[in-house]
Amino acid sequence: MEIPLHKLPAHGLFPVTLPDGSDVVIAVSPGGIAVFADECPHQGLPVSAGSLGADGTITCPFHGAQFSATTGACVCGPATDALPRFASTIVEGSLRIGPRLAPG
Ligand code: FES
Repeated sequence: MEIPLHKLPAHGLFPVTLPDGSDVVIAVSPGGIAVFADECPHQGLPVSAGSLGADGTITCPFHGAQFSATTGACVCGPATDALPRFASTIVEGSLRIGPRLAPG
């Protein structure tokens, strides 16, 4: 799936459903653009309802877990696992989203 970069916010979280039905969230932060499963590893709720701070930290609105917007690493509980990442590249002015990546 490709999304023109001009359709993305300058900063923030942008939820998208992929053609295979996967819900993902695109995080646009000072560290760049990354794509994650829109599913908090704490209780599976959508992190896209949360916020992305100026420091590049995604905060889940449900119980306050925090994740790096560039790597998905959990930086504050109650979650312990990272947000699962999807492959992504920028090609000719569009963000191309690839498959879900293996953890680690
Ligand atoms: S569902 Fe995200 S912190 Fe609980």
